[in-house]
Amino acid sequence: MVAWLSWRFFGKLEPATAAVQQGLAQLASVVEENVAGARLVRAFGREKDETRKLSKVTDQIYDDGMEVVWLRTFYVPLFQFLPGIGQLAVLAYGGYLALHHHMTAGDLVRSLQYLNMLVWPVQSLGDMVASGQRAVVSAARVWNVLREEPSIEEAPHAATLAAGGGTIAFEGVDFAYTKGKPVLKNFTLDVAAGASVALVGATGCGKSTVARLLPRFYEADRGRISIDGADIRDLKLRDLRRNIAIVFEDTFLFSDTIRNNIAYGRLDADDAAIERAARLAHAADFIEEMPEGYDTIVGEQGFSLSGGQRQRLAIARAILMEPRVLILDDATSSVDARMEEEIRSALREVMEGRTTIIISHRLSTISLADQVVLVDGGRVAETGTHTQLLRRSARYNEVLGQQLEAVG
Ligand SMILES: Nc1ncnc2c1ncn2[C@@H]1O[C@H](COP(=O)(O)OP(=O)(O)OP(=O)(O)O)[C@@H](O)[C@H]1O
Ligand SMILES: [Mg+2]
Repeated sequence: MVAWLSWRFFGKLEPATAAVQQGLAQLASVVEENVAGARLVRAFGREKDETRKLSKVTDQIYDDGMEVVWLRTFYVPLFQFLPGIGQLAVLAYGGYLALHHHMTAGDLVRSLQYLNMLVWPVQSLGDMVASGQRAVVSAARVWNVLREEPSIEEAPHAATLAAGGGTIAFEGVDFAYTKGKPVLKNFTLDVAAGASVALVGATGCGKSTVARLLPRFYEADRGRISIDGADIRDLKLRDLRRNIAIVFEDTFLFSDTIRNNIAYGRLDADDAAIERAARLAHAADFIEEMPEGYDTIVGEQGFSLSGGQRQRLAIARAILMEPRVLILDDATSSVDARMEEEIRSALREVMEGRTTIIISHRLSTISLADQVVLVDGGRVAETGTHTQLLRRSARYNEVLGQQLEAVG
């Protein structure tokens, strides 16, 4: 009976326990999103809706939790109660046998003693089943994460990146984030060592995607990408990525000191190197004006800084890496024209002898590059200098025209 009951209890608990765990995960993500997006919630006056969303999740957890509690209040006392019935039955039937001399009193006492030993384990079975079920559900969730295969894996024979000047080649690269929706189609591009190339194209044409493929954040579906002649799939991931510094479109900073944020890619950098990088990125002035200078802690995701200040820290972080390849993805979109002009002159110094890919919507930044590449329809549509393309390509004018309008 005990075995049958345990089995039933275990089965009935499963859906409710799984629902509670699922609910807790949902709760965590709602809370996290609301903390991170607090400004947005307030700006759009959606506090009430978000509170309602939170209540809905917690109410669901409450309901599922109550179902677990109801099951427990039924089954757990049953497990407490059952051994008592057993004892009663042994005492009654055994007493009868003893009275009629079919059994000695000693045997009866012995049987009762044995039964007594069983009482406690059976009584605690209910709790064990309940926590066992929770463990099974939790383990399944952990297992789901653990068995996830990383989509980018280092080849077993991966080599370190040999010395070189940073020649980059994309050869017939196809890529799609989701099957059937290609972003890059037969994308072919050669960048000579130390050269600088500006990727220009309409919004959503795949410029950032090109930048993400080089450090192998995603794997190309077809074709070959190489750096200094070595296929990036044959290189040690860490080695490949250490040689490429990227300033992303959306600047991310850790809630740490400014110093540590700049030195993120090179922990061994000394103060002089950090300050030099900050100066080149035109971040030194505002950092020194801060009460604690380089030891100032930037708030969560750098929220205590302006957009332009954050971008300049990200540029300093990339400069400090002294990478072979520097990728600037809309790196100066949040700084004003004068500041951009200053950063550009500094970038010229940084770009010297380094392969640089610049992605920008601004004419002034594009003109920094030796070569301009027009990306259209997932491939390289035109290549040339800015003036050549301006003269030759209607599409280039169109893209720039659109953007000039958008920028104002
Ligand atoms: N993680 C992703 N998952 C699915 N689709 C994506 C992802 N990132 C980008 N895309 C899609 O791929 C296309 C190219 O995006 P990409 O970010 O490369 O454009 P972009 O040229 O950098 O645009 P922008 O100038 O606005 O930065 C877009 O249509 C976009 O919707
Ligand atoms: Mg982009």
